[in-house]
Amino acid sequence: MTDLELSPGNPAPPCVMVIFGATGDLTKRKLIPALYNLAKSKLLSDQFAIVGNSRTEMTTEAWRDQLSQEIKTFATSEVEPGIWDWFLQRIHYVGGDVNDAQTYQKLKDQLAAVDQEHGSKGNYFFYLATAPAFFGPVIQQLGNSELTREGEGRWRRVIIEKPFGSDLDSARALNQTIRSVIEERQIYRIDHYLGKETVQNLLVFRFGNAIFEPIWNRRYIDSVQITAAETVGVEKRGGYYDSSGALRDMVPNHLFQLVSLTSMEPPISFDANAVRDEQAKVLQALSPINPEDVLTKTVRGQYGDGVLNSEHVPAYRAESHVDPNSSIETYVAMKLNIENWRWAGVPFYLRTGKRLPKRVTEISIQFKRPPLLLFRDTPVERLRTNRLAIRIQPNEGISLRFGAKIPGPIMRVGAVEMNFSYLDYFGSTPSTGYERLLYDCMIGDATLFQRADMVEAGWCVIEPILDVWKALPPRTFPNYPAGTWGPADADELLERDGSEWWKIEE
Ligand code: BG6
Repeated sequence: MTDLELSPGNPAPPCVMVIFGATGDLTKRKLIPALYNLAKSKLLSDQFAIVGNSRTEMTTEAWRDQLSQEIKTFATSEVEPGIWDWFLQRIHYVGGDVNDAQTYQKLKDQLAAVDQEHGSKGNYFFYLATAPAFFGPVIQQLGNSELTREGEGRWRRVIIEKPFGSDLDSARALNQTIRSVIEERQIYRIDHYLGKETVQNLLVFRFGNAIFEPIWNRRYIDSVQITAAETVGVEKRGGYYDSSGALRDMVPNHLFQLVSLTSMEPPISFDANAVRDEQAKVLQALSPINPEDVLTKTVRGQYGDGVLNSEHVPAYRAESHVDPNSSIETYVAMKLNIENWRWAGVPFYLRTGKRLPKRVTEISIQFKRPPLLLFRDTPVERLRTNRLAIRIQPNEGISLRFGAKIPGPIMRVGAVEMNFSYLDYFGSTPSTGYERLLYDCMIGDATLFQRADMVEAGWCVIEPILDVWKALPPRTFPNYPAGTWGPADADELLERDGSEWWKIEE
């Protein structure tokens, strides 16, 4: 590594983070460990505090004790007692039902006391780590109690978790409700994929280097593949997942973020709206699939039982809180096109699924073959040599594949790889992926958060697929055994275009 700008960063301004859903999974697994990491990196203000809320009535002391136990399991690095104590003193709790106006009065009183005690200056951000059904009602109550009101130099912001709506109409309705209370600049719609270093690196890779941009278009790129494969099943989330499915759960949010960062035009600056304008434009250019093409351009799958990592695992329909006759998909693959000058005619193939053989998220850029096949009599004719793979996780890195002469008296060409691994260059930085996003919200930088138009553009593409799938329930589920790379139809989707999914090493 040479001469990179490594600035430690300034602590965020004084503020209070209010967590709704304080006793839930997200809080203990991600939010508290992320805040602890920020404290460790000295990126939290001395005048920082947390107020947790959930329906459970308990004291601040009891919540502190609970978190002190949980952090032992969920911290991403060793918990240093001095830092943890500093952190713990800043944690407070208010019990109460989020549908009850009195809860917000109690919260207001507590926040006033916290401002006094910690000097947090009336700057608050509210993190909605609740079930999605509460997003609208909580924001309305926050508005009614004037907790979202800014002024006199103090700011108020709201972070909203996914899923943001379950289709276009519900996402629009939620946007409307939220905007009747707060302004767009106060809204931070979180997508944890944007907290991943390698996802952020897409911006640096594309716009911090001059050598790739000239070939980043339809003249040189043949196709793009994006894979987000998981080995886990639905774990304890059967209740949620069985009404959501892989398409809603992963595509309009995580995968479309990857699509937009891969394909957007260079922004005029790294100002939040400049970046998001370009992302929105490219999402709006994604052509929705016509209803009559849905069945040929998309593939859905559901896992049956199978063997994964030498262990027998149950079928999706046998998972807890899942309907034994469920038609919900746990796998989706699709072919999309971006109708703009840069990308017209370049297919983007997306796939994601649960219980696949390997956990890997990867973007693969396949470049065109050379225009003249000089090596006609050699296997290179069949080799699609130039491919750039951007590995988002695990083994974060980038590799470029090209053809090289295999030593020997005969002209033979083999594919070789140049490999950059994050770990080799930068070592490992233990992180939950939420640190950057929480910090950005505190400093008022919304670049890595979704804007209303981006969310709605995503749902516009998904909507026709949801409609057709609903009208024509799948007849062959389960159609892939756990531990395999998904249904055969997904291979056919690419074979029809004379292509194939890149093999991911197991
Ligand atoms: C979540 C989905 O948003 O992302 C999960 O709800 C999925 O179903 C998860 O497992 C994947 O995130 P990551 O960071 O593990 O790739």
